[in-house]
Amino acid sequence: MDKYEAYEKYLEYEENIPGQRRGRVKTHPTKKNNKKPAITMSDLTDFIDDAAAWVPTYAASLDPKHHERQWLIDSLASFYQDNILTDVIRRVKGGKEANVYCCTGHPASGLDLIAAKLYRPRTLRTLKNDAIYKSGRQLRGEDGKELKGRREKLALVQKTNFGKHLDMVWWINNEFSVQQKLFQAGADVPRPIGHNGNTILMEYIGDEWLPAPALNDVSLDRYEAEQLLGLILKNIRLMLENHFVHGDLSAFNILYWEGSISIIDFPQVVDARKNPHAQSLLERDVKRVCDYFAKFKAYSEPEAISRELWLNYMGSL
Ligand SMILES: Nc1ncnc2c1ncn2[C@@H]1O[C@H](COP(=O)(O)OP(=O)(O)OP(=O)(O)O)[C@@H](O)[C@H]1O
Ligand SMILES: [Mg+2]
Repeated sequence: MDKYEAYEKYLEYEENIPGQRRGRVKTHPTKKNNKKPAITMSDLTDFIDDAAAWVPTYAASLDPKHHERQWLIDSLASFYQDNILTDVIRRVKGGKEANVYCCTGHPASGLDLIAAKLYRPRTLRTLKNDAIYKSGRQLRGEDGKELKGRREKLALVQKTNFGKHLDMVWWINNEFSVQQKLFQAGADVPRPIGHNGNTILMEYIGDEWLPAPALNDVSLDRYEAEQLLGLILKNIRLMLENHFVHGDLSAFNILYWEGSISIIDFPQVVDARKNPHAQSLLERDVKRVCDYFAKFKAYSEPEAISRELWLNYMGSL
């Protein structure tokens, strides 16, 4: 059973333990409900065996019954087995959709610290307007190949569990491959390391005591603000030259560490050649960035900047 299935099974198991139902609408027991076969501990053997092998420091600090503990171990055990990471020190950020953890890298990874972004199961990216970002996308499976099968397309449209799984796989594949292309193109993004199931690994920005704050939590003098604004606009241009528009760029998705910036969070990136909303998303990204820096007296003209960026890009095609 793969990791995702293992976790789904784990949740099903957890939901079937009396008194542990979480947020489910109570229904009268019907024949149909009764037909569902009970999940027994023996169904979970693979999962528990895997989990027993490795208990990272952060997981050990949690109550053994806490579902985060099992989820974390199951999501990251393969990276541990592959000598990519050795421990999970702490949770940096917990959210509705994803948790980010600080991990120590195995010497073979070449990194002291690694950030692991784990998407929560059954929650798909609840982007404000999913359709805007998905316009013009190609459907791809776990192996990154385009999905052509009727079964997959139908599952996506009907939003079955399999369809939802495919949807999450698509978001994660997309996020990782965009970050990889941007890193290779020389953009200021954390170095991507790998992905598997619900998880993306990348270079950790910060140190063992503190994660890098988002720009939004940083106060800048005017000179530094002007420098960083120039740097971020350079990154936006570089992204566009590679046909990408971030689509959710703001001071919340830019980390600041020792005078440098790292742009993060790429699931909603759109392809400027295919997505009809690319230009308006670019305008919004530029405006949010410029508005942030204006607070530190680094003034700019976002409309003129995005117009110039777009015209230049169109002229290059
Ligand atoms: N490479 C990294 N190094 C250090 N911290 C990171 C890294 N990536 C993400 N984080 C931390 O995790 C937070 C959430 O990451 P990200 O924006 O990718 O996820 P998200 O699910 O979109 O969360 P949000 O909805 O808060 O934006 C970041 O604001 C940052 O604090
Ligand atoms: Mg974010």
